[in-house]
Amino acid sequence: MELSYFHVADDVPEDLVPETAVVIDVLRATTTIAWALHNGAEAVETFSDLHELQKKSDAWNKTSRLLLGERGGQRIKGFDLGNSPVMVQPELVEGKRLFMSTTNGTRSLEAVRNAENLYTLALPNRKAVAEKLLADQATQVCIIGSGWEGSYSLEDSFAAGSLAAFLLEKSSNSVKVFNDELHAALALWDRWKGDPESCLRTASHGKRLAALGNHDADFNCCASLDQLSIVPYQSRPGVLSAS
Ligand code: MLT
Repeated sequence: MELSYFHVADDVPEDLVPETAVVIDVLRATTTIAWALHNGAEAVETFSDLHELQKKSDAWNKTSRLLLGERGGQRIKGFDLGNSPVMVQPELVEGKRLFMSTTNGTRSLEAVRNAENLYTLALPNRKAVAEKLLADQATQVCIIGSGWEGSYSLEDSFAAGSLAAFLLEKSSNSVKVFNDELHAALALWDRWKGDPESCLRTASHGKRLAALGNHDADFNCCASLDQLSIVPYQSRPGVLSAS
């Protein structure tokens, strides 16, 4: 398995259609997606464009849908939920389709929508995704961060390192680290693996969230490693389902 890491989707070479793409947005989109599906959401449909989201969600039965999203870390006006993994509780999301748009995470997902296999990863489902890649016998895996408006993010790189470290530990003979970005991500994992939350709070988006108000529960949830067995996968373009 060849593993590469790209800080943001724009860094993926244009002529590369990944066999397998793993999209990461630790704070907080892919953590919210994992928890929403774990808590029984029917699926999470993601959009970078809000007009598109409105059009698609209008066509869905009102009683079985929720609109979820943020801009700049804050809930979008008129939406049912903000982008928080601790808000997607079973009593709210069970059986519902979540129509989701976020500042960066849903953009990354859209950019690699044409990958043959597309999964999302957060720290709580890191082991589950790694085991899925091994079971799939994936040969070429592109891990893609979401960053912030096109720039690098520490926490996504740290999570990319956590995935690579797990895979190397399980299967060092068959896993190859394919680019320098992933070597650097592995070094970040080594630096903060004993205290993931401190990495998230050091990151500029962590500081942004802290400045918006108390996000302790979100930090705690987003930093919790290997808690979930859910592997969100793209079942139709833009639609993430549980496996
Ligand atoms: C994003 O997609 O940019 C993030 O998930 C922002 C957030 O923390 O809500």
